[in-house]
Amino acid sequence: MLNNKFYVTTPIYYPSGRFHIGTAYTTVLADSIKRYHKLKGEDTYMLTGTDEHGQKIQEVAKKNGQTPKEYVDKMANVAKELWAKMDIQYDDYIQTTETRHEKVVQKIFEKFKEQGDIYKGEYEGLYCVPCETYFTQTQLVNGKCPDCGRDVIPMKEEAYFFNMKKYTDKLLKYYEENPDFIKPDYRKNEMINNFIKPGLEDLCVTRTTFDWGIKVPSDPKHVVYVWLDALVNYLSALNYLSDEDDTLMKKYWPADLQIVGKDIARFHLIYWPIFLMALDLPLPKTILVHNWIMMKDGKMSKSKGNVIYPETLLDRYGLDAVRYFLLREMPVAQDGIFSPEQFVERYNFDLCNDLSNLLNRTISMVNKYFDGNVPNYNGTINEVDKELEEFTNKQIDNFEMKLNNYEIANALQEIWTLISRTNKYIDETMPWSLAKEEKTEQLKSVMYHLIENLRKIAILISPFMSSTANKIFKQIGIEKNELKLWYSLKNYDKIENVKTIQKGEPIFMRLNKEEEIAYIQDAMNNK
Ligand code: ME8
Ligand code: MG
Repeated sequence: MLNNKFYVTTPIYYPSGRFHIGTAYTTVLADSIKRYHKLKGEDTYMLTGTDEHGQKIQEVAKKNGQTPKEYVDKMANVAKELWAKMDIQYDDYIQTTETRHEKVVQKIFEKFKEQGDIYKGEYEGLYCVPCETYFTQTQLVNGKCPDCGRDVIPMKEEAYFFNMKKYTDKLLKYYEENPDFIKPDYRKNEMINNFIKPGLEDLCVTRTTFDWGIKVPSDPKHVVYVWLDALVNYLSALNYLSDEDDTLMKKYWPADLQIVGKDIARFHLIYWPIFLMALDLPLPKTILVHNWIMMKDGKMSKSKGNVIYPETLLDRYGLDAVRYFLLREMPVAQDGIFSPEQFVERYNFDLCNDLSNLLNRTISMVNKYFDGNVPNYNGTINEVDKELEEFTNKQIDNFEMKLNNYEIANALQEIWTLISRTNKYIDETMPWSLAKEEKTEQLKSVMYHLIENLRKIAILISPFMSSTANKIFKQIGIEKNELKLWYSLKNYDKIENVKTIQKGEPIFMRLNKEEEIAYIQDAMNNK
């Protein structure tokens, strides 16, 4: 069957420091989209990893008294622990210092060189000798090295370059003919106007001033410089050009979705497709560029004391609240602001008032009126029930539309609109009056519809908040059957495998606003 596989990637992160909430955001986004496709029965594959070469890593390792390899292996484990804690279901984790990756980079480099795509030239820039780093004019601070504040000198060194100009027209044509290639759409014009129209510069792909990198086989004083090394991970993880069998490559390439932050949009929207063209490989279906999580006072930075680490929130509020907040509060196409106030508000309103209360109210009523037994579907529905059914189906369509366009925050909003509507249905139908007036058939229908909508809501939230979904399934007495779940979303005629419902703990409890804001603020200041 066509279209039944889904390969999604995150950037491979630099392990130069602790992983903050921004890194967690991209990874949760990828994981949630993967889970949605899995729920629909697709063969999914998710890749994440770490980008482990370069001078900075070499320096950090030295400061830690470790060899670079010891350091990056330790950090890869730190990342894996965090992803385990966040229930990220990646299928492969790639480290660029693994042999399986290094071999592929070397093969690709030599192939490009043989094809004439890579040529030897001279790299020129402003060099800080103590820091052993090149800077551009704009990176300097008061004309001095931005890292140590000392003088920089103009310098030249032998380096290899990739001939980007050769592929410019082909790239523009590809953009034109593939409207889904770049999301959101405005990033395409940004690339064209800011980088392509002014004339693409050839990309420097090697360095000789440090050696923590993949050696160029035919000229080993050069190491492959960061981007050519890093981008290849998406292929090397699938055993591209390797001696291993090519099952993964055949099955999963081209990627269906590659998610990146706006900081690395240029590398993924220009250089990456050009490398793929030079390899004669098909391009990914979609590259999704998301914006940044900002703080009230600007970008997160350690010196400002406004960094938020995922563990701060995870340990106190639980995984699902954190995943919900990140996905709901950060619109993919614009920057989102992290604030302790907003975190607590979303928790109290969306999770506690809306979702948790809907579940509690429903369970209490089914217990009270029908001893915990969910009534059977009552074929003779009235107007209110019918309207609810139609509304629910419409929300499911809206949800799918938004999600398929990778508007995750909007997709979640569609679910919460359904939750509010279902809460309103209780107020409209007034089950307590129906009970008093002994309108049993109507009361049965209301209970049925409430449980059924909770079941649908649990299915819809499951890619984002899987343990909350499971708690709901358990409380409403429905056995989870992964494969049938998605396809049963639009049915109202039969609830699958209903058992007696079980009253459980509330899934979210109201937070004390002042206390929790102070708690989060404190954690941000102290770290
Ligand atoms: O750039 N808000 O690695 P990196 C949202 N190794 N997302 C953020 C964020 C923020 N404030 N800060 C970081 C690299 N991110 C390269 C990538 S890929 C072949 C090589 C996320 O550790 C976002 O996804 O600097 C961003 O693109 C990525 O982390 C950068 O991670
Ligand atoms: Mg970065």
